[in-house]
Amino acid sequence: MKIRRIAITTGGGDAPGLNAVIRAVTLSALKRGWECVGIKRGYDGIMYPEKFPDGGLVHLTADSVRGIVHTGGTILGSTNRGNPFSYEFETVDGKIEKRDISDRMVQGFADHEIDALVAIGGDGSMAIACETAKLGIRIVGVPKTIDNDLGGTTSTFGFNTAVDYATDAIGRLHTTAWSHNRVMILEVMGRHAGWIALFSGVAGTADVILIPEIPYDIEKVAAKVLERNEKKKNFTIICVAEGAMPIGGEATYQKTGGVKRLGGVGKYVAEQLRSRLPNEVRTVVLGHLLRGGSPTARDRLLSLRFGAAAVRALAEGQSNVMVALDPPTVRYIPLEECTRKLKTVPLDCDTMLTARDLGTSFGD
Ligand code: F6P
Repeated sequence: MKIRRIAITTGGGDAPGLNAVIRAVTLSALKRGWECVGIKRGYDGIMYPEKFPDGGLVHLTADSVRGIVHTGGTILGSTNRGNPFSYEFETVDGKIEKRDISDRMVQGFADHEIDALVAIGGDGSMAIACETAKLGIRIVGVPKTIDNDLGGTTSTFGFNTAVDYATDAIGRLHTTAWSHNRVMILEVMGRHAGWIALFSGVAGTADVILIPEIPYDIEKVAAKVLERNEKKKNFTIICVAEGAMPIGGEATYQKTGGVKRLGGVGKYVAEQLRSRLPNEVRTVVLGHLLRGGSPTARDRLLSLRFGAAAVRALAEGQSNVMVALDPPTVRYIPLEECTRKLKTVPLDCDTMLTARDLGTSFGD
């Protein structure tokens, strides 16, 4: 089927580089004579256009995507709660009820004569894209997540920006930790995978790195600090992924706005260490700072490559695939392949071996 109009959606948590993908998709589509529209806030714009005063779709032109490559966030907006196959409704008694309203989405595509969709998102969004393809919608996914935990692609955009920011933070913590003989703990994002903690921890030369893939023993962490004290290196930097957990224990959660969310492991590790160490122990949480701001040059380039490749895939007649980085090229893989398994840190990867060779402790 000939393509006349395509749509773009951005779903889930934002990541630096989203706008660069939107620009590349738009310009590549326009070049082929296709029209391009953006769906506002995930799929909400097409399912509930009445929620948006200016309509749920935005007509994307060369003008509207000018000067956005260096910007963070997404010009289309995003949501974590807009899964058409399991849409969240609040009942009268304040409970959340989930319903499949994907027929609304399919109808929306038909009403607006949208021939294909570029879905930019993480594991959740790729799973939605996979289901959407089964309903007969032509679709190509673009992998996004600062956590870098999507299967099938060597890297996702947003990850490099997060690693850069965290590495800079570790550098800054070094000088203040050293001046005050402190143990400084840096908590970074990384729900199920410790990529950000590992890469920034190694690049920033943290002394201890705690990741979800390696449950830690607090005694081993304390021993590393004491060993450094002994050697008169009177400060220690610990980089911990939010999903890290002690041996036999669980990840740390906290309540924000009544909702239980992952987070707080930095504070927890600090409390555990205080009773075991003479050092003063402080915690810094980077949280959403890692997701905000301008993408690095590497993420801008990767996002532009992904966006252009997604349109090439559609032009070649591909559907139900995700663009994936497989250096030195970008290839297409079946959407199912990337949703099958999260990409966690292989314990024998060379970055892990490097860290171990340099004497970094993983608390194991
Ligand atoms: O998946 C990316 C991520 O940044 C995780 O590392 C983090 O746990 C999560 O998003 C936070 O999402 P939210 O902003 O929805 O709480």
